[in-house]
Amino acid sequence: MHIGADYYPEHWPRETWETTAQQMQEAGFNTVRLAEFAWAFLEPEEGRFDFRWLDDALAVLGRHGIRALLGTPTATMPAWVARKYPETLAMKPNGQRTTWGVRKNNCFTSGAYRLLSERITRAMAEHYRDHPQVIGWQTDNEFGNNPCSCGTCRADFQDWLRARYGSVEALNQAWGTHFWSHRFSEWAEVPIPDDNGSHNPGLLLDWQRYGSWLNVRFQADQVRILRQVCPRQVITHNFMGYHQDLDYYDLARDLDFVSWDNYPVWGALEIPYDAAGAADLMRGLKRRNFWIMETTAGPGGWGEMGRNVRPGELRKVALQQVAHGADGLIWFRWRTCTVGREQYWHGLLGHDGLPGRRYREAQATAQELHRLWPELEGTTVPARVAILYDYDSLWATRFQKSFPDNHWQQYLRRFQAALVRAGVPCDLIHPDQDLSGYRLVVAPQLFVLPDARAQRLAAFVRAGGVLLTTLRTGVKDEYSRCHARTLPGLLSDVLGIRIEEYEALPGATPAAIQGSGLLPGAFTGTGFADWIQPTGAEVLAGYTTAHLRPYAAATRQRAGSGWAYYVGTVVTEDGFYDALLRSCLDAAGIQPVLIPPAGVEVCERAGAGRRLLFLLNHVEEPRQVAVPAGARALVGTITQGQVALEPFGVAVLRLA
Ligand code: GLA
Ligand code: ZN
Repeated sequence: MHIGADYYPEHWPRETWETTAQQMQEAGFNTVRLAEFAWAFLEPEEGRFDFRWLDDALAVLGRHGIRALLGTPTATMPAWVARKYPETLAMKPNGQRTTWGVRKNNCFTSGAYRLLSERITRAMAEHYRDHPQVIGWQTDNEFGNNPCSCGTCRADFQDWLRARYGSVEALNQAWGTHFWSHRFSEWAEVPIPDDNGSHNPGLLLDWQRYGSWLNVRFQADQVRILRQVCPRQVITHNFMGYHQDLDYYDLARDLDFVSWDNYPVWGALEIPYDAAGAADLMRGLKRRNFWIMETTAGPGGWGEMGRNVRPGELRKVALQQVAHGADGLIWFRWRTCTVGREQYWHGLLGHDGLPGRRYREAQATAQELHRLWPELEGTTVPARVAILYDYDSLWATRFQKSFPDNHWQQYLRRFQAALVRAGVPCDLIHPDQDLSGYRLVVAPQLFVLPDARAQRLAAFVRAGGVLLTTLRTGVKDEYSRCHARTLPGLLSDVLGIRIEEYEALPGATPAAIQGSGLLPGAFTGTGFADWIQPTGAEVLAGYTTAHLRPYAAATRQRAGSGWAYYVGTVVTEDGFYDALLRSCLDAAGIQPVLIPPAGVEVCERAGAGRRLLFLLNHVEEPRQVAVPAGARALVGTITQGQVALEPFGVAVLRLA
């Protein structure tokens, strides 16, 4: 297994390199990521390359059995780039260029920047193509939004629209520019939107898509060179989990595998549902296992720092990702830097460079994972539940939330967290992904729903699948125009409901809900209420508040040989989601291997004839878990059918 740290030899005197490599080897590390911010060292002046220092660093590491992934260094531009080519600096909406000296502040349409990026990528690729220790590449670092509003970006956006729509008339149609008399007669009239609250929703959605595509194109420029020059080396990028500005499916397409940067340790101690969900998305991007390219090694922060990892927590954070499909594990960073913006972002070693508690915990984790690797290799998460994760719906909801405080990801998280509590693995996948391997599909706020997609979901239900969907599903088409239909549109038949009216619920007046049968209990609806009229559906919960009394809050219907569930409000209580998902899972014929006690997460990896169960204790108290008969402990001990987990303890079992 590839295990190690992000390491910056260029930050440290050469005399330290040998000791560092020795310490890494003793920790059981075999992999480092290098050079992703080292452009000014690799190309100190335009066209003059210097690889000697990196060759030397690799040689020292190599004597200790350590291999490397190299980052293309384009996330921070050297001062000479900005000095010679000022147009490479991103322009703010007010027309000012950003000040050089931070990072990720380049214009992605600048021809100079693109050519400089290609040149450094090619130079590195040619130099390291046959290097025995270089196993592959990380493109840039943490691609994100498009930070630029310059004239080149505007012209390029117009070009992108021309390629997409073909004619100005088609663009006018798609965006509905007859509203407010906003018709375009030429491409050159299309603006860069600078007010997300007032511009045309179609323009906003396309500008967001364009910004995403720009990052993907920039990466593709590098990938093309790396594939051509270094065909034997792998290519990845360090994603940011639930980051919202990029369509990560697009970014992942050109890569061999996805990696991501996981920093779940911040304020109050919490069950890291998001680290689980983000991992399931990272695995879902290509539907294959991923690497952790950076993860918590100590307190993080650029000005103020977060809390430290407590004893056992560093291992637990790492093993949660392994349980969700991580096949590589790189801690950020090796040693805390004494200078620069990230002095407080702590590494495994402190400023003093002395191996301490965090180092020893990483060492123990690395050794444990090396022992486990023969069992882990070739396994992945065997999910039969999918959550549809759709960037168009996320973005369109950001521009028009529908109701105050509506946050697309947070709403989705209510369902995803309930699946974690139920002990059932899930994949977060693209809504057009083949659904045939799944029994249950959860689609929270599938706000943008083109007809073909709605028809596929209906067909999935009729063919025996279980669909759970919610408020604000099917509202818009792919151009962010509202469908001219009664909601939930093309899903009405399978859901057996009609929604002629709906409303936002002002914060102070939540709606009381009474459930029965499968959803027993009293609950609270907030934010929004669909006025659901069943046309065939069974009512699982109804409103008991004033004018909402005639309407259902949650329903289900048998359709074909499947089931379709609908929730029309934001229910506050976790218990609602737990009961709802239990019903969906029953309908789908999915049984968890075991139902974990509160605070414990259970995950499975399966494949190559093996089934491995991970038990992760996310709380700082001991927990006991009853394990399935015949299970054998690979990590931990089974006593009388129970595993005892210490605070942050982890057990790994092999199922019979
Ligand atoms: C990100 C970056 C790293 C570093 C860390 C900590 O994940 O990729 O370069 O900046 O955050 O700030
Ligand atoms: Zn620009």
